[in-house]
Amino acid sequence: MKNLILPCQRHLFDIPVDVAYLNCAYMSPLMTSVAQAGEEAIQAKRHPWGTGSEGFFTTSEEARGLFASLIGAQSDDIAIAPAASYGIATAAANIPLKPHEEVLVLAEQFPSNIYSWERLARENNATVHTIAAPTTTRQGPDWTPAILDAISERTRIVALPHCHWTDGALIDLKSVSEKAKTVGSALVLDLSQSLGALPINVAEIDPDFLIAPTYKWLMGPYAMGFLYVAPRWQEGRPLEENWIVRKGSQDFASLVDYEDAYQPGAKRFDMGERANFQLMPMAKRALEQLLDWGVENIAATLRVKTDALAKRANALGLLTGARDLRAPHFLGVRFPDGAPDGLLQHLASRNVHVSLRGTSMRVTPHLYNNEEDTDRLFGALEECL
Ligand SMILES: Cc1ncc(COP(=O)(O)O)c(C=O)c1O
Repeated sequence: MKNLILPCQRHLFDIPVDVAYLNCAYMSPLMTSVAQAGEEAIQAKRHPWGTGSEGFFTTSEEARGLFASLIGAQSDDIAIAPAASYGIATAAANIPLKPHEEVLVLAEQFPSNIYSWERLARENNATVHTIAAPTTTRQGPDWTPAILDAISERTRIVALPHCHWTDGALIDLKSVSEKAKTVGSALVLDLSQSLGALPINVAEIDPDFLIAPTYKWLMGPYAMGFLYVAPRWQEGRPLEENWIVRKGSQDFASLVDYEDAYQPGAKRFDMGERANFQLMPMAKRALEQLLDWGVENIAATLRVKTDALAKRANALGLLTGARDLRAPHFLGVRFPDGAPDGLLQHLASRNVHVSLRGTSMRVTPHLYNNEEDTDRLFGALEECL
């Protein structure tokens, strides 16, 4: 089925007409409906006598199911986690690493997907092998061949994103997963910078662990996220022991009849206070909207937007790399002579919001952006070139 190019959805957000917010990779703005879900949740907490205990088990289960649909998993394969670092730490606590084995990561990968591996390697006399950035040509970095090359008999864990957080350089996870399996390596994915805007199906990629916080491309609140745990790891060791993930926890009267058994599936990995009455309704509302738009359609629509941005950047002599090496929702813009001094401050003074990551100006639009935003960005950029 052909993907739809979705019309601008700015009316669902609270973004003033003169603000060009092109920084979803930093943090998405909340939709009005998501903010309302949060406000209603805060009001409900003012009067806790009005709610029964079933609230501990309803919204979180619905959100778990919605997240599962987003990645082609079963609800039972999903745990609730507050941050990318929590998901990566869970993976690191479960995947055995022997002396002299390797964890593969990318140069300048986000630290939440580095530090747990460094500790695991240190504690096991193993190594974190950092794959150097492939020489950046005008095309931009092509990571996949470099990753495939680096996977060897020593590789036990490949810990990656779907696209690099600095410039959106895309990784072909299917080829990486196939190669990793030939050497018996696990695949751990931090999808903070892609899930919700770049389709992925766990039936196709078969990762071991996959984490995504909700505050970027999942368009939800901060300090909430979801962790996919492949069925082969679901008997593993959670980072903490909390009461709600034990068998029979719905029966509040019997909570001190301590129970050894966990609830089935990935629930044992849920964070403490996973019901999070304030944030969970917001996460759920955002996931519903994403599923309603369709991630394939979001990706196709953002591709049109980043293509248009790339064309304007190229016309100014700026480099954006090869189209098929970058994710559809990301544009890394490089300045041949380096980024102008004070670039971000100047853009912000014109109500234009982007990020600078390494040498790359990261421009990350979403469905709320329109052509006026593009004009505002390039008007402000031309003033400082
Ligand atoms: C690739 C990537 N992973 C993770 C995070 C956030 O990590 P955490 O949820 O551990 O704060 C970010 C934030 O920018 C990111 O870009």
